[in-house]
Formats: sequence, C-alpha cells, structure tokens
Amino acid sequence: MNILITGASSGIGEATARLLHKGGHTVFLSARSFNKLEAIKAELGDRVHIIQCDVKDYEDVKAMTHAAVQSMGSIDVLINNAGLGIFDPLPIAKIEDWHEMVDVNVKGLLNCTHAALPHLVEKKGHIINIGSVASHHVFANSGVYCATKHAVLAISESLRIEFPDKLHITTISPGSVNTAFIDQTKNDNLLKEYKPNFANGMSAELIADAIRYAIETPSNSVISEIIVRPSKALY
Ligand SMILES: NC(=O)c1ccc[n+]([C@@H]2O[C@H](COP(=O)([O-])OP(=O)(O)OC[C@H]3O[C@@H](n4cnc5c(N)ncnc54)[C@H](OP(=O)(O)O)[C@@H]3O)[C@@H](O)[C@H]2O)c1
Repeated sequence: MNILITGASSGIGEATARLLHKGGHTVFLSARSFNKLEAIKAELGDRVHIIQCDVKDYEDVKAMTHAAVQSMGSIDVLINNAGLGIFDPLPIAKIEDWHEMVDVNVKGLLNCTHAALPHLVEKKGHIINIGSVASHHVFANSGVYCATKHAVLAISESLRIEFPDKLHITTISPGSVNTAFIDQTKNDNLLKEYKPNFANGMSAELIADAIRYAIETPSNSVISEIIVRPSKALY
C-alpha cells in the first residue's frame, strides 16, 4: 500500500514508517525536521519518499499531498500522527502553548484530512488518526491537550459516520509511550514528575504494530479504535 505519515521524523511516526516499510509498503514521510527524514530515507532506501511539511500550514499540506500522489501514484492510507503535548497547570499555562496544541493536533490533522480526502475516497482508503487515552480521560495539567485528543476522536467518528462505505477510519489511542513527546513540557516540576512515567511507558514499536494491524485487517471489516495501555500503570 501507499502510505502517507505525518510526524514521521521521530517516535511513533518513525517507528511506524520503519515497520510498514519492512512489511513491503511504500511510505511517504513528512515532518518539519527534514534532516531527520533524510537520515531515515538513507537508511531504508527504496520505497521511501520524504518532504518537509508543517501541518499547521495548509499550503504546505496541499503541496505534501500533491507530492505524495505524484511520487506514489495514490494515497491508500493517511496516518495523522503529528502532534504534541505541553503540560502546565492551567492557571500558569501560556496561551501560545494552548494555541500550538490546537493548531497542530486539531487544525493540522484537519488540514491533512481535508487535502487528502478526495484521493482517499477515490481509492476507498484508510485514515489512521493518532488519539490518546486523553481522548477518553481528562487529566490535571493537560486539559487543553486532552481537549485536542477528544477532538481527534470526534473527528474520526464523524468521518466514520459520513463515509461508511467510502473510507476506513481508525483511531489509535495510546497511553504513555517512551518517545521525545514529554520533552515539549518546560515546567521543571511536572517534567521531573512525569518523565519517569513516559520513560517506563510502552515502546513506539508496539504502537506501530497496532497501526500495522489496523491497516492490514481485511477490507470487509474495520478496526475503529485501538486503545493501548501500559500494563504497569493506569494510563
Ligand atoms: N508519547 C506518548 O506518550 C503519546 C501517547 C498518546 C498519544 N501520543 C501521540 O502520538 C503522536 C506522536 O507523538 P510521539 O510520542 O511520537 O512524539 P514525538 O517523538 O515528539 O513525535 C512528534 C512528531 O510530530 C511532529 N510534529 C510536531 N509538530 C509538527 C508540525 N507543526 N508539523 C509537522 N509535524 C510536526 C514532529 O516532527 P518535527 O518536529 O520534525 O516537525 C515529530 O515527528 C502525537 O500525536 C501524540 O499526541 C503520544
């Protein structure tokens, strides 16, 4: 299959790119850190395409989608993975951080979905949205992040309802995963408290495997959501 992955320069996106490529798929990788994408492409070789793209910028996203269709011939699967969480108690949180999370996690996901939708519908394709346990639960110090991930699940569900026989939609909702994700948080006290939890969290490869499973499920059924929680913690 021809698979477009956003946020493919690190963590879950990178692990997913590697696993799907190993499984014989063609991957089109996007992120802002072009040097990281170049290094992944140099290592993996054939069936890898890369582009620099900020999902907040709809012009960038349209160019990414166009390039994906040009180089792969189609987009069978879009993996909306680019996202971030910046944790802070609400009374001292920065408005720029709230805007950044909404702009990337919600508006960025909508930009990619909107631009790729005609191509996906044409191929009876599949959208994988990366939600979170925060799509279901609300936690202190991360209210806006939780709101963005609730929105991701709502967007997935609306797509599933409106395109029942034209698209497959899956939300992947992980608990703590050991990636660079927590390093976006600048509050020293929270960082000290949360970092061990993420360090002991699940591997990005485990989440990549859940994504692979959803993609490779026979087309007469659809995995609408997979929630993956670490066994040693509640979330
Ligand atoms: N780690 C966890 O515990 C966890 C749990 C549940 C859900 N998630 C979700 O999983 C997804 C991936 O996170 P991760 O854990 O793999 O963290 P990560 O290693 O920090 O990866 C985040 C990815 O998003 C990309 N990104 C961020 N802002 C972007 C933008 N404006 N435009 C394009 N790409 C952008 C980053 O690339 P560049 O910086 O190069 O652009 C990077 O490739 C996120 O949606 C996150 O909310 C993570």
